[in-house]
Amino acid sequence: MSCPRLPALLVYMLFISSVCCSVALMFYTYFLIQPPRVRNPSLLPQIGCTPDKYQEANHEEQQEISNINPIPLIDFKDLGSKKEKVMLLIIVSTAPQRMDRRQAIRDTWWKHCDGSMVKCVFVTDGFIANHAQRRLAIQERNIHKDMELQPLQGGREFGFRFLNQIKWAMATFHFRYLLRIDDDYFLCLKKLLAELPMRPKKNLVWGFFHCQRRGKMTWIDEAFMIFTRDIIQTFLAQNESSMLCHPHADQQIGLWLNQITRKIFFHDKRLYHDPPASFSPKFQNITNVCDSYLGVHGTYVDKMRYFGRNANDSAKKSHSIPKFSSFCPTTKFDYRFMHRIFRFEPKLCKDNPTWNVERTMFVGRERQYALRASGHTREVTNGR
Ligand SMILES: *[C@@H]1O[C@H](CO)[C@@H](O)[C@H](O)[C@H]1NC(C)=O
Ligand SMILES: *[C@@H]1O[C@H](CO)[C@@H](O)[C@H](O)[C@H]1NC(C)=O
Ligand SMILES: *[C@@H]1O[C@H](CO)[C@@H](O)[C@H](O)[C@H]1NC(C)=O
Repeated sequence: MSCPRLPALLVYMLFISSVCCSVALMFYTYFLIQPPRVRNPSLLPQIGCTPDKYQEANHEEQQEISNINPIPLIDFKDLGSKKEKVMLLIIVSTAPQRMDRRQAIRDTWWKHCDGSMVKCVFVTDGFIANHAQRRLAIQERNIHKDMELQPLQGGREFGFRFLNQIKWAMATFHFRYLLRIDDDYFLCLKKLLAELPMRPKKNLVWGFFHCQRRGKMTWIDEAFMIFTRDIIQTFLAQNESSMLCHPHADQQIGLWLNQITRKIFFHDKRLYHDPPASFSPKFQNITNVCDSYLGVHGTYVDKMRYFGRNANDSAKKSHSIPKFSSFCPTTKFDYRFMHRIFRFEPKLCKDNPTWNVERTMFVGRERQYALRASGHTREVTNGR
């Protein structure tokens, strides 16, 4: 009479083993889909201004990610007399994930980056935690040869990012003008190249400025900034024991510019800033955008391609830029007047400071406006 017990035992064994298998499978898939993590948060890059410290602090982080896949990071070595000579160096600051934006730029205004007058480079963050994304960024760099990876991790550290970029720019190129521009800016590059020879050769800070607190302070928006070489030199020549850093590049630059007395501010109304062009009816069906503008901010992928087809970018009649004082009575910047969401205390760069900011990619205006359009949120953008 033991026969009926055998199937019962079998069913029981089968049940147990299937439970074991499911548990094992769950564990396996859980670890499979987890993104690779930086094991020790204290190893996150601590970027400062002292070159040695700065190399050192990054070293472990660099090693850690390099072990998996070596990252071809930018070289800060001064090339001396071997520097490439250009009239205009353009650095497009871009997050690694923004491949679609970069491609839209390559297919549009990037095409005028030819000849010996101008050099165009994308600069993005090289410490990318996600394997697949890191591989894609390196691949993109190797294929297009127009992108550099800096030793930063991403998020709201625009100040360090700018400092990195100008150090590299100075070490690698002999430029007369440096344009640092966002990856959502449509640029009328032919128009710009044609008028550059007419512009001041020294002391120039050119872009879109904000004039706030009833004219008590001003700052240049970091989305588009042209500097002459001497200004960049002065930035880098600051005494390291007093040089100030800030999470936002435009505020850091505002602080640095406070120290420079001889400077020419150009506030250019031909730079369109806000609201983003992609969300503005005025740009919906516009053609020949370069006839009236020099650059258009908030131009995301579709609009970039649209402008690329009909912008009529060419040398234009010369345009005089009005005195800065007619736009803003002061040339001073004061971080204490900033909106609270952008207000951080400047700290000494040499201490490798950190601020209480998010480490993820800064939520740009494209997403904010898309969310707002769909009625999800009313985030404060303060025109950024
Ligand atoms: C930088 O500033 C410190 C402290 O104010 C001073 O001791 C030092 O001499 C300065 N260095 C240079 C190169 O001016
Ligand atoms: C742009 O063109 C589309 C299609 O012709 C039209 O529906 C839309 O109203 C136009 N927008 C503006 C702001 O003129
Ligand atoms: C393009 O710009 C040039 C220079 O300003 C101008 O002469 C020309 O008429 C423009 N083309 C069109 C189609 O508007």
